[in-house]
This record gives sequence, structure tokens and C-alpha cells, in this order.
Amino acid sequence: MKRILSGMRPTGKLHLGHYVGALENWVALQKDYENFHLIADYHVLTTQLDTTDIAQNTLEMVKDWLAAGIDPELSPIFRQSRIKEHAELFLLLSMLITKARLERNPTLKEQVRDLNLDNIAYGYLGYPVLQSADILLYKGELVPVGKDQAPHVEIARELARRFNKTYGKVFPEPRPKLTKFSRLPGLDGKSKMSKSLGNAILLSDEPDAIQAKLHGAYTDPLKVRKHDPGRPEICLVYTHHTRFNAAQSPEIKAGCESGSLGCVDCKRMCGEAIAKHLEPFRERRRYYDERPDELQTVLHDGEARAKIVAQDTMVQVRAAMGLG
Ligand code: TRP
Repeated sequence: MKRILSGMRPTGKLHLGHYVGALENWVALQKDYENFHLIADYHVLTTQLDTTDIAQNTLEMVKDWLAAGIDPELSPIFRQSRIKEHAELFLLLSMLITKARLERNPTLKEQVRDLNLDNIAYGYLGYPVLQSADILLYKGELVPVGKDQAPHVEIARELARRFNKTYGKVFPEPRPKLTKFSRLPGLDGKSKMSKSLGNAILLSDEPDAIQAKLHGAYTDPLKVRKHDPGRPEICLVYTHHTRFNAAQSPEIKAGCESGSLGCVDCKRMCGEAIAKHLEPFRERRRYYDERPDELQTVLHDGEARAKIVAQDTMVQVRAAMGLG
């Protein structure tokens, strides 16, 4: 079975955008691949020094992974910071790449622009090197990512090649497994769904909260009255129907276009469909909310399993480099 390494930074509770863009895919891949799920808590520190929320955000994220259907028996879930081999491989790989190569990284350039970061940390420049260490430590062959992360997987490929050529073959060259990335629009209709922009439906939201959020969602501005014809193709509520209410969405589309369906009813139906989809998620989340010890066991067990693989790889790495 091919091995997949997937990872996310722990930013707290996840929303529908995370689900559609990544998590749904992770769950589907469990059957056909061996999966390792990494919590990138070191990566958080590349852009933020405040560690106050990391532990809690990690637990919230893991609960959402489990809620969405990740099976921790099949797929180890582990914190990067608990497996020191990440730090060691990161150090060694950092010798195999130039500063100029890292400065060309388009994701870095974009984030520097978006976040207005003038003086980035030395560690932030190395972000993709740390990510490469994450992947190569487990000899991940496939990495499920959205388009924005593909340049990082490319760097991991280059590093694997460079290492193998210099010291002898240890690593497979990982490949990105691009998610059929439907970027879910946020409820404000302005940008993609994001918790910090306050335009997101959380996976853990109760039905009432989902209804309330959808009620305030932005729709076609030309559909002012209930019977005005609308344009579903520009409406984010309709996008949500296509993802979470596929069977009904042709009918919704026709109703919106003809003016027989108003936005209030359309939003209510959408909220019901999303709440129904998320109901088993909420149930599984509740299970772990009530059993914090079991959640800790999931992490400790995942970390023990991950560590075995990581240690084995590092024995090979040190031997290849003459450091063994
Ligand atoms: N950089 C990824 C993100 O922000 C998170 C990540 C860290 C990751 N290490 C990884 C993803 C290894 C895939 C593989 O989404």
C-alpha cells in the first residue's frame, strides 16, 4: 500500500472549507492508502510566537478530524513537536537547499504580501524544508494538498533527489495528490471561507447556528424580492447546495432562476442539508468531548506509531551521511 503523509497547522475548530478542501479527501483515501496525519504545531511558530492557544487548537482540530471520519486505528494522528526526528531531519535537509531557492517559493511570496511581513523569521524561510522533513521522515509517496501547497511538495521532491544523489538512496520522491480543490466561498461572498474573516460554518456548529449564519449569507444582489429571478451561478448559497444538497440542487436552481423560490426558503433548505450532513460529525465530536482521556490516547498511540517509522528513517539517514 502506498503511503500518504498529510498535514495541517492546528488553528482550532475547522470549517466547511477545510472539509471540502482537504478533510473529506483524507477520509476517502483511508481505504486505499496507508495514511499518516501530522499536526504541524512547529509550523505555527513560523508566523506567530504566541503559543497560548496551540494546545487547545490542536485538540479542537483533532476532534474535528475524528468527527469527520478519520479512523485513528487505521491512520496514526500525531504532533510534529512530539517527534524530535522532525527537527533533526529539518536541520540536515536545510544544508541541501539554497537560500535563493527558498526565496523563490511562490507561497512564501504570497504570504509575505498578504500578511505584510517585512521581516520574516529565518525559520519561516525554511517552512518548506520543515514540511519536506515531515513528508520524507515517513517516506510519504503522496501528499494530498491544494494548489497553494504544491510548490512545497516540489521542494520536498528536490530535496529527496538531492539527498539520494549525494548520500545514497533513502527517500522516495513524493508527489502531490491535488485535491479537486473546490474552494468554498465564505458566507460574505467576498473571499474563501475563513474563520478569521468570520464568514465560516464550523463543522461543530449546531443546526441553529448554521441556520443563523446562512440567514445572513450574501446572495444575488439583483434578487431583491422573493419572486425576482436569481442567478444561482453567482450565489454562494447555491454553491453550498451543490456540495451538501446535490440531489435537490437542480430543483433549487430552477426555482431560483424562475423566481418561484425565494432566498429565505432556499437558505433554510441549505441549512437543513448542511446540518444533516454534519449530524454524525457532531455525534462523534460529542463522544470525544465527553472522553478527553481517550483523545489523549489517540494522540499518544499515534505518536508511538509515528515515532517507530521516524526513528527507522533517521537510522538510515545518519548511516547514509556517515553520522551513524
Ligand atoms: N503547510 C501545510 C499547510 O499549511 C501544513 C503542513 C505541514 C503539511 N507539514 C505538512 C501538509 C506535510 C502536508 C504535508 O496546509
